[in-house]
Amino acid sequence: MRNFITIEGCEGVGKTYQTNLLKQYCREMGYDVVFTREPGGSDIAEQIRKIILDANNSDMDDLCEAFLYAASRIQHLKDIVKPALNEGKVVICDRYVDSSYVYQGIGRGLGLDKIVKLNEIAVGDYMPEFTVFLDLSPENAFKRKGGADSNDRMEAIGYAFHLKVYEGYKRLIAENPARFEVIDASGAKEQTQAKLRAALARRGVFR
Ligand code: TMP
Repeated sequence: MRNFITIEGCEGVGKTYQTNLLKQYCREMGYDVVFTREPGGSDIAEQIRKIILDANNSDMDDLCEAFLYAASRIQHLKDIVKPALNEGKVVICDRYVDSSYVYQGIGRGLGLDKIVKLNEIAVGDYMPEFTVFLDLSPENAFKRKGGADSNDRMEAIGYAFHLKVYEGYKRLIAENPARFEVIDASGAKEQTQAKLRAALARRGVFR
């Protein structure tokens, strides 16, 4: 899918911070880029996000969780991503199917094949042209963040889960080397931002 870019990474890698800096840069440069996020990104999808992340929903079944992420994705595609792409705009989305592959497929242990199939139904051929992976191990990310947020049901799962997620990303990257731009996010924030912009320029997003 042309012009569709996703950003992935473990908790605490600074994804939101980096995306906000990038948004500011695009505004200053006059680039017409739609920034959005998953789960959520549109009215109904944000309502689904609240249910998924609510720490009170600790009894949620893993498969229910996987379907809710996919449901949020379907709605967000309809409301935001497809209209923008149809207008020829660039869309940069903070998380997408890779998050489901690694968090639900690998982290939760539902199986990558099952989650790939579920998401084929949800997204059809709306796959990103390329995906930026902000690379920082969960150990360093949580250290930087000062620990997990206990009000966030996903963050609170525990270190072993997040390590599986990180290793899951590494597996996806090894299996899809052409789709991923891996960026070392362990340095200063400005360095990571510079690398991120360079990757987007290299891929022809900024002309
Ligand atoms: P965020 O903190 O980056 O906004 O993401 C919310 C949480 O949802 C984060 O813990 C990652 C998780 N997640 C999944 O488990 N599966 C998914 O498909 C998506 C999009 C996010």
